[in-house]
Amino acid sequence: MKFIDVLEAKSIYQKGENVTNYLRKKYGSEDNTSEIIEIAYDLQAGSYVENVKSNFDKANCYANELSNILSDNLECGDSLLDVGTGEITTLTLVLNKLKTELFDVVALDISWSRLSVGMQFHQEHRRSKFPLKVFVADIKAIPLHEKCVDVVTSSHALEPNGRNLETLLLELFRVTKKKLVLFEPSYELNSEEGKDRMDKLGYIKDIEGTVSRLGGKVWDVVPIRHTSNPLNPTACYIIEPPKHITKHLDVVTYCVPGTNFELKLDGQHLFSPDTGLVFPVLDDIAVLKTSSAILATLKS
Ligand SMILES: C[S@@+](CC[C@H](N)C(=O)[O-])C[C@H]1O[C@@H](n2cnc3c(N)ncnc32)[C@H](O)[C@@H]1O
Repeated sequence: MKFIDVLEAKSIYQKGENVTNYLRKKYGSEDNTSEIIEIAYDLQAGSYVENVKSNFDKANCYANELSNILSDNLECGDSLLDVGTGEITTLTLVLNKLKTELFDVVALDISWSRLSVGMQFHQEHRRSKFPLKVFVADIKAIPLHEKCVDVVTSSHALEPNGRNLETLLLELFRVTKKKLVLFEPSYELNSEEGKDRMDKLGYIKDIEGTVSRLGGKVWDVVPIRHTSNPLNPTACYIIEPPKHITKHLDVVTYCVPGTNFELKLDGQHLFSPDTGLVFPVLDDIAVLKTSSAILATLKS
Protein backbone atom coordinates (compact mmCIF):
# COMPACT_ATOMS: atom_id res chain seq x y z
CA MET A 1 0.00 0.00 0.00
CA LYS A 2 1.39 3.40 -0.90
CA PHE A 3 0.74 6.43 1.28
CA ILE A 4 -0.26 8.41 -1.81
CA ASP A 5 -3.08 5.92 -2.49
CA VAL A 6 -4.51 6.62 0.94
CA LEU A 7 -4.49 10.36 0.25
CA GLU A 8 -6.26 9.86 -3.10
CA ALA A 9 -8.74 7.44 -1.52
CA LYS A 10 -9.43 9.95 1.24
CA SER A 11 -10.39 12.66 -1.24
CA ILE A 12 -12.64 10.14 -3.08
CA TYR A 13 -14.28 9.23 0.26
CA GLN A 14 -14.80 12.89 1.13
CA LYS A 15 -16.56 13.41 -2.22
CA GLY A 16 -18.97 10.61 -1.24
CA GLU A 17 -17.76 8.25 -4.00
CA ASN A 18 -17.18 4.50 -3.66
CA VAL A 19 -13.57 3.94 -2.54
CA THR A 20 -13.36 0.20 -3.34
CA ASN A 21 -14.53 0.78 -6.94
CA TYR A 22 -12.01 3.61 -7.31
CA LEU A 23 -9.08 1.56 -5.94
CA ARG A 24 -10.02 -1.53 -7.97
CA LYS A 25 -9.86 0.57 -11.12
CA LYS A 26 -6.63 2.26 -10.03
CA TYR A 27 -4.86 -1.05 -9.30
CA GLY A 28 -6.42 -2.72 -12.37
CA SER A 29 -7.72 -5.37 -9.97
CA GLU A 30 -10.97 -7.27 -10.44
CA ASP A 31 -10.93 -8.19 -6.75
CA ASN A 32 -11.24 -6.20 -3.56
CA THR A 33 -7.76 -7.06 -2.29
CA SER A 34 -7.03 -6.94 1.45
CA GLU A 35 -5.26 -3.59 0.94
CA ILE A 36 -8.26 -2.11 -0.84
CA ILE A 37 -10.56 -3.35 1.94
CA GLU A 38 -8.26 -1.94 4.63
CA ILE A 39 -8.08 1.53 3.06
CA ALA A 40 -11.80 1.70 2.25
CA TYR A 41 -12.95 0.62 5.73
CA ASP A 42 -10.30 2.45 7.75
CA LEU A 43 -11.37 5.74 6.12
CA GLN A 44 -14.95 5.10 7.32
CA ALA A 45 -13.93 4.67 10.98
CA GLY A 46 -16.63 6.11 13.25
CA SER A 47 -19.45 5.94 10.70
CA TYR A 48 -20.93 2.64 12.02
CA VAL A 49 -20.94 3.89 15.62
CA GLU A 50 -22.73 7.07 14.49
CA ASN A 51 -25.23 5.03 12.49
CA VAL A 52 -25.98 2.65 15.38
CA LYS A 53 -26.37 5.53 17.83
CA SER A 54 -28.99 7.16 15.58
CA ASN A 55 -30.78 3.85 14.78
CA PHE A 56 -30.38 2.02 18.08
CA ASP A 57 -33.67 0.07 17.95
CA LYS A 58 -32.97 -1.21 14.44
CA ALA A 59 -29.44 -2.28 15.39
CA ASN A 60 -30.78 -4.04 18.49
CA CYS A 61 -33.41 -5.98 16.50
CA TYR A 62 -30.72 -7.27 14.14
CA ALA A 63 -28.42 -8.12 17.06
CA ASN A 64 -31.27 -9.90 18.94
CA GLU A 65 -31.94 -12.13 15.97
CA LEU A 66 -28.23 -12.97 15.66
CA SER A 67 -27.88 -13.52 19.38
CA ASN A 68 -30.76 -16.01 19.49
CA ILE A 69 -29.23 -18.10 16.70
CA LEU A 70 -25.77 -17.91 18.28
CA SER A 71 -27.13 -18.93 21.69
CA ASP A 72 -28.56 -22.08 20.08
CA ASN A 73 -25.16 -22.89 18.61
CA LEU A 74 -22.89 -22.15 21.58
CA GLU A 75 -22.23 -24.30 24.63
CA CYS A 76 -21.39 -23.04 28.07
CA GLY A 77 -17.60 -22.46 28.32
CA ASP A 78 -17.05 -22.11 24.55
CA SER A 79 -14.65 -19.61 23.00
CA LEU A 80 -15.96 -17.29 20.27
CA LEU A 81 -14.12 -15.43 17.49
CA ASP A 82 -15.86 -12.65 15.53
CA VAL A 83 -14.06 -11.97 12.24
CA GLY A 84 -14.39 -8.57 10.54
CA THR A 85 -15.91 -7.14 13.71
CA GLY A 86 -15.57 -3.57 12.39
CA GLU A 87 -16.54 -1.02 15.07
CA ILE A 88 -17.66 -3.81 17.42
CA THR A 89 -21.23 -2.48 17.30
CA THR A 90 -22.96 -5.72 16.26
CA LEU A 91 -20.76 -7.88 18.51
CA THR A 92 -21.36 -5.67 21.58
CA LEU A 93 -25.15 -5.78 21.16
CA VAL A 94 -25.08 -9.52 20.38
CA LEU A 95 -23.02 -10.30 23.52
CA ASN A 96 -25.39 -8.18 25.63
CA LYS A 97 -28.26 -10.52 24.69
CA LEU A 98 -26.37 -13.82 24.66
CA LYS A 99 -27.81 -16.51 26.92
CA THR A 100 -24.68 -18.70 27.01
CA GLU A 101 -21.70 -18.17 29.35
CA LEU A 102 -18.53 -17.98 27.25
CA PHE A 103 -14.95 -18.69 28.29
CA ASP A 104 -13.18 -16.36 25.86
CA VAL A 105 -14.33 -13.80 23.27
CA VAL A 106 -11.90 -12.45 20.67
CA ALA A 107 -12.49 -10.35 17.56
CA LEU A 108 -10.41 -9.19 14.61
CA ASP A 109 -10.60 -6.64 11.85
CA ILE A 110 -8.21 -5.50 9.15
CA SER A 111 -8.72 -1.84 10.15
CA TRP A 112 -7.00 -0.57 13.30
CA SER A 113 -8.98 2.69 13.32
CA ARG A 114 -12.31 0.87 13.32
CA LEU A 115 -11.25 -1.34 16.23
CA SER A 116 -10.04 1.70 18.13
CA VAL A 117 -13.37 3.54 17.72
CA GLY A 118 -15.14 0.25 18.39
CA MET A 119 -13.48 -0.37 21.76
CA GLN A 120 -14.86 2.98 22.98
CA PHE A 121 -18.36 1.96 21.84
CA HIS A 122 -17.91 -1.44 23.49
CA GLN A 123 -16.83 0.06 26.81
CA GLU A 124 -19.77 2.50 26.81
CA HIS A 125 -22.45 -0.04 25.81
CA ARG A 126 -21.37 -3.44 27.08
CA ARG A 127 -23.66 -5.11 29.56
CA SER A 128 -22.13 -8.56 29.25
CA LYS A 129 -19.34 -9.59 31.58
CA PHE A 130 -17.28 -11.32 28.88
CA PRO A 131 -13.86 -9.71 28.57
CA LEU A 132 -13.25 -8.95 24.88
CA LYS A 133 -9.83 -8.95 23.22
CA VAL A 134 -9.46 -7.42 19.76
CA PHE A 135 -6.60 -7.43 17.28
CA VAL A 136 -5.84 -6.29 13.73
CA ALA A 137 -5.58 -9.17 11.26
CA ASP A 138 -6.54 -10.35 7.80
CA ILE A 139 -9.04 -13.22 7.68
CA LYS A 140 -6.81 -14.70 4.97
CA ALA A 141 -4.06 -15.31 7.57
CA ILE A 142 -5.53 -15.47 11.08
CA PRO A 143 -2.95 -15.09 13.87
CA LEU A 144 -4.32 -18.03 15.87
CA HIS A 145 -3.21 -21.65 16.30
CA GLU A 146 -5.13 -24.25 14.30
CA LYS A 147 -8.21 -25.58 16.07
CA CYS A 148 -8.11 -23.25 19.08
CA VAL A 149 -11.54 -21.52 18.82
CA ASP A 150 -14.82 -23.34 19.40
CA VAL A 151 -17.14 -21.17 17.32
CA VAL A 152 -16.40 -18.51 14.68
CA THR A 153 -18.96 -15.90 13.71
CA SER A 154 -19.15 -12.93 11.34
CA SER A 155 -21.60 -10.26 10.28
CA HIS A 156 -21.18 -9.04 6.69
CA ALA A 157 -17.39 -9.43 6.96
CA LEU A 158 -16.59 -12.00 4.30
CA GLU A 159 -18.93 -9.89 2.13
CA PRO A 160 -16.43 -7.69 0.20
CA ASN A 161 -13.89 -10.50 -0.36
CA GLY A 162 -15.50 -11.65 -3.66
CA ARG A 163 -13.35 -14.22 -5.37
CA ASN A 164 -11.22 -14.87 -2.26
CA LEU A 165 -14.05 -16.66 -0.45
CA GLU A 166 -12.31 -20.03 -0.76
CA THR A 167 -9.08 -18.72 0.81
CA LEU A 168 -11.02 -17.14 3.68
CA LEU A 169 -13.08 -20.26 4.38
CA LEU A 170 -9.99 -22.48 4.40
CA GLU A 171 -8.41 -20.20 7.00
CA LEU A 172 -11.60 -20.15 9.08
CA PHE A 173 -11.74 -23.96 8.92
CA ARG A 174 -8.11 -24.09 10.11
CA VAL A 175 -8.85 -22.28 13.39
CA THR A 176 -12.40 -23.53 14.11
CA LYS A 177 -13.00 -26.54 16.37
CA LYS A 178 -16.79 -26.94 16.34
CA LYS A 179 -18.72 -24.71 13.96
CA LEU A 180 -19.02 -21.49 12.02
CA VAL A 181 -22.13 -19.34 12.38
CA LEU A 182 -21.72 -16.80 9.59
CA PHE A 183 -24.18 -13.96 8.98
CA GLU A 184 -23.38 -12.95 5.44
CA PRO A 185 -25.25 -11.60 2.41
CA SER A 186 -26.95 -14.28 0.34
CA TYR A 187 -26.44 -13.85 -3.40
CA GLU A 188 -28.71 -16.81 -4.03
CA LEU A 189 -31.66 -15.39 -2.00
CA ASN A 190 -31.19 -11.92 -3.50
CA SER A 191 -33.32 -10.24 -6.20
CA GLU A 192 -31.89 -9.71 -9.70
CA GLU A 193 -31.29 -6.05 -8.82
CA GLY A 194 -29.52 -7.07 -5.61
CA LYS A 195 -27.37 -9.66 -7.42
CA ASP A 196 -26.31 -7.02 -9.92
CA ARG A 197 -25.34 -4.71 -7.06
CA MET A 198 -23.36 -7.48 -5.31
CA ASP A 199 -21.54 -8.27 -8.58
CA LYS A 200 -20.63 -4.61 -9.08
CA LEU A 201 -19.30 -4.30 -5.52
CA GLY A 202 -17.24 -7.51 -5.77
CA TYR A 203 -19.21 -9.33 -3.05
CA ILE A 204 -19.08 -13.05 -2.24
CA LYS A 205 -21.50 -15.62 -3.65
CA ASP A 206 -22.18 -19.38 -3.45
CA ILE A 207 -21.17 -19.88 0.19
CA GLU A 208 -22.92 -23.28 0.23
CA GLY A 209 -21.19 -24.60 -2.89
CA THR A 210 -17.78 -23.32 -1.77
CA VAL A 211 -18.09 -24.89 1.70
CA SER A 212 -19.03 -28.25 0.16
CA ARG A 213 -16.16 -28.13 -2.36
CA LEU A 214 -13.76 -27.56 0.56
CA GLY A 215 -15.08 -30.58 2.46
CA GLY A 216 -17.22 -28.71 5.02
CA LYS A 217 -20.95 -29.21 5.67
CA VAL A 218 -23.63 -26.52 5.60
CA TRP A 219 -26.14 -27.67 8.24
CA ASP A 220 -28.60 -24.83 7.75
CA VAL A 221 -29.20 -21.55 5.93
CA VAL A 222 -31.53 -19.26 7.88
CA PRO A 223 -32.74 -16.02 6.25
CA ILE A 224 -32.45 -13.08 8.68
CA ARG A 225 -35.59 -10.92 8.99
CA HIS A 226 -34.00 -7.70 10.24
CA THR A 227 -31.82 -6.89 7.27
CA SER A 228 -31.00 -3.20 6.87
CA ASN A 229 -30.69 -3.21 3.08
CA PRO A 230 -33.16 -5.30 1.02
CA LEU A 231 -30.60 -5.35 -1.79
CA ASN A 232 -28.14 -7.06 0.58
CA PRO A 233 -30.21 -9.69 2.44
CA THR A 234 -28.48 -11.47 5.32
CA ALA A 235 -28.61 -15.23 5.81
CA CYS A 236 -27.09 -17.27 8.61
CA TYR A 237 -24.91 -20.14 7.41
CA ILE A 238 -24.34 -22.82 10.04
CA ILE A 239 -21.28 -24.73 8.96
CA GLU A 240 -19.27 -27.67 10.24
CA PRO A 241 -15.59 -27.51 9.20
CA PRO A 242 -13.90 -30.54 7.60
CA LYS A 243 -12.46 -32.89 10.19
CA HIS A 244 -8.95 -33.47 8.79
CA ILE A 245 -7.21 -31.76 11.75
CA THR A 246 -8.02 -33.73 14.88
CA LYS A 247 -5.70 -32.18 17.52
CA HIS A 248 -7.50 -29.35 19.33
CA LEU A 249 -6.11 -26.72 21.73
CA ASP A 250 -8.05 -25.83 24.89
CA VAL A 251 -7.28 -22.10 24.83
CA VAL A 252 -7.23 -19.36 22.20
CA THR A 253 -3.53 -19.12 21.30
CA TYR A 254 -1.94 -16.24 19.33
CA CYS A 255 0.47 -17.26 16.56
CA VAL A 256 2.32 -15.80 13.57
CA PRO A 257 -0.52 -15.22 11.05
CA GLY A 258 -1.62 -18.42 9.29
CA THR A 259 0.80 -20.66 11.27
CA ASN A 260 1.17 -22.56 14.56
CA PHE A 261 4.26 -20.56 15.70
CA GLU A 262 3.16 -19.17 19.05
CA LEU A 263 3.51 -15.49 19.99
CA LYS A 264 4.64 -14.36 23.45
CA LEU A 265 4.03 -10.94 24.97
CA ASP A 266 7.42 -9.19 25.20
CA GLY A 267 7.01 -5.73 26.77
CA GLN A 268 4.91 -3.77 24.30
CA HIS A 269 5.26 -6.32 21.47
CA LEU A 270 4.29 -9.82 20.51
CA PHE A 271 7.29 -11.95 19.69
CA SER A 272 7.69 -15.35 18.00
CA PRO A 273 10.75 -17.15 19.48
CA ASP A 274 10.67 -19.71 16.62
CA THR A 275 10.74 -17.28 13.71
CA GLY A 276 12.19 -14.08 15.25
CA LEU A 277 9.16 -12.08 14.06
CA VAL A 278 7.92 -9.20 16.20
CA PHE A 279 4.44 -7.61 15.90
CA PRO A 280 3.57 -4.11 17.18
CA VAL A 281 0.85 -3.22 19.68
CA LEU A 282 -0.74 0.21 19.15
CA ASP A 283 -2.85 1.61 22.02
CA ASP A 284 -3.42 -1.91 23.42
CA ILE A 285 -4.48 -3.30 20.03
CA ALA A 286 -2.03 -5.88 18.61
CA VAL A 287 -1.39 -5.48 14.89
CA LEU A 288 -1.05 -9.08 13.67
CA LYS A 289 -0.94 -8.72 9.89
CA THR A 290 1.88 -10.50 8.03
CA SER A 291 2.85 -7.14 6.47
CA SER A 292 3.25 -5.54 9.92
CA ALA A 293 5.90 -8.01 11.14
CA ILE A 294 9.42 -6.87 11.93
CA LEU A 295 12.13 -9.50 11.49
CA ALA A 296 14.35 -9.37 14.59
CA THR A 297 16.07 -12.77 14.80
CA LEU A 298 18.68 -11.30 17.16
CA LYS A 299 15.97 -11.36 19.86
CA SER A 300 15.34 -15.13 19.53
C1 LIG B 1 -19.66 -4.41 6.45
S1 LIG B 1 -18.46 -4.29 7.74
C2 LIG B 1 -19.24 -5.21 9.04
C3 LIG B 1 -18.65 -4.92 10.40
C4 LIG B 1 -19.29 -5.65 11.59
N1 LIG B 1 -19.17 -7.07 11.50
C5 LIG B 1 -20.72 -5.25 11.76
O1 LIG B 1 -21.61 -6.12 11.77
O2 LIG B 1 -20.98 -4.04 11.92
C6 LIG B 1 -17.19 -5.40 7.18
C7 LIG B 1 -15.96 -5.43 8.06
O3 LIG B 1 -15.18 -6.56 7.71
C8 LIG B 1 -13.81 -6.19 7.68
N2 LIG B 1 -13.14 -7.07 6.72
C9 LIG B 1 -13.49 -7.33 5.45
N3 LIG B 1 -12.62 -8.17 4.88
C10 LIG B 1 -11.68 -8.47 5.81
C11 LIG B 1 -10.52 -9.27 5.82
N4 LIG B 1 -10.12 -9.94 4.74
N5 LIG B 1 -9.81 -9.37 6.97
C12 LIG B 1 -10.19 -8.70 8.09
N6 LIG B 1 -11.27 -7.88 8.13
C13 LIG B 1 -12.01 -7.77 7.00
C14 LIG B 1 -13.82 -4.73 7.23
O4 LIG B 1 -12.65 -4.04 7.61
C15 LIG B 1 -15.07 -4.21 7.91
O5 LIG B 1 -14.78 -3.64 9.16
